[in-house]
Amino acid sequence: MAFLSATLNRVKPSPTIAVSTLANELKAAGRDVIGLGAGEPDFDTPQNIKDAGKAAIDAGKTKYTAPDGMPELKQAIVDKFKRENGLDYTPAQISVGTGGKQILYNALMATLNPGDEVIIPAPYWVSYPDMVLLAGGEPVVVECPIETGFRMTPEQLEAAITPKTKWLIFNSPSNPTGAGYTRGQLKALTDVLLRHPHVWVMTDDMYEHLAYDGFEFCTPAEVEPALFDRTLTCNGVSKAYAMTGWRIGYAGGPVELISAMRKIQSQSTSNPCSVSQWAAVEALNGTQDFIPENNKVFVRRRDLVVEMLNQAKGLECPVPDGAFYVYPSIKGCIGKVTKAGTLIENDEIFAKALLEETGVAVVFGAAFGLSPNFRVSYATSDDALREACTRIQTFCAELS
Ligand SMILES: Cc1ncc(COP(=O)(O)O)c(C=O)c1O
Repeated sequence: MAFLSATLNRVKPSPTIAVSTLANELKAAGRDVIGLGAGEPDFDTPQNIKDAGKAAIDAGKTKYTAPDGMPELKQAIVDKFKRENGLDYTPAQISVGTGGKQILYNALMATLNPGDEVIIPAPYWVSYPDMVLLAGGEPVVVECPIETGFRMTPEQLEAAITPKTKWLIFNSPSNPTGAGYTRGQLKALTDVLLRHPHVWVMTDDMYEHLAYDGFEFCTPAEVEPALFDRTLTCNGVSKAYAMTGWRIGYAGGPVELISAMRKIQSQSTSNPCSVSQWAAVEALNGTQDFIPENNKVFVRRRDLVVEMLNQAKGLECPVPDGAFYVYPSIKGCIGKVTKAGTLIENDEIFAKALLEETGVAVVFGAAFGLSPNFRVSYATSDDALREACTRIQTFCAELS
């Protein structure tokens, strides 16, 4: 439509919507659908955090705040970065937004000029390339296959950098694979960046606290302090604190960048919800005891899903380090025909047939830039996971 902006034409509609629309249609038609597509914990927000939100309402803390976050929350974030990551930010170096998503979007809008390149390792979180396109930049997708654990090698990073590169977007543990970079693996990447002073790092640490089996989370500015002045360390309370609906994300970075992000926010959404900001203060300053408790549940579910999917004919499912996703390969299913007669040419057809024939909704790998795979979110009950994996096993066993 000519009325719509040319910029919008650069962006594809979300490929995940096709799966969720079909799942909802099947559900509405009375089918027994098990959804493994959701990117959020099924746990409730902890009581102390909910209480802080309620108390904020009762105390009338319901007015505008500073556009990029109130001082009490910025201080809690400064303290968190120091305590957990060894990073020394001042409040003027902190930005708070309506979810991690807004933070990443503001940063890209604040920095990209036409033709600027952003390196995005794939599989990636679905929004990165489209946010880059909306901001006028060019995504440079680097495919990181299952053979290297879905991790980018230093050689791949070196080869992807050009004089036009502005950012590397880094995400560990990752959505959609759950793969995390060890300190050594990350150091190998930061060593490459040291040789290219024009490249900045946008690190998306959203799954920091969801790391298992002793995996030690680390973040670029801590692993290589020489990168501190060109790193935007992004995080949020959505995942670890089961606060997806509260919409609070934040970042630490150089003052000029944080000020530019504030300018965008002050002319668009203004402050994130004041009540949510008070709840986020409690999330960061209050007890963290529920995190290891929740992680025990996630590990149990991860192990259940990995074991059952590896027993499915034609699937290969690596064990992730964190987050709540697995990203099995369906290489062994390509070219086969389902019981209902569908030829599996790619992962999109696999996911559609799986949903139609078994009622299990997963997201196909092409949506995340690396095929042939699919993503399972295991942030749902053990019973639902067991039933879903049994159906996947049957579906794969019946391929011919
Ligand atoms: C890797 C990653 N980054 C950022 C976000 C956005 O989080 P928020 O809900 O706080 O906007 C998500 C949510 O799915 C995510 O998976």
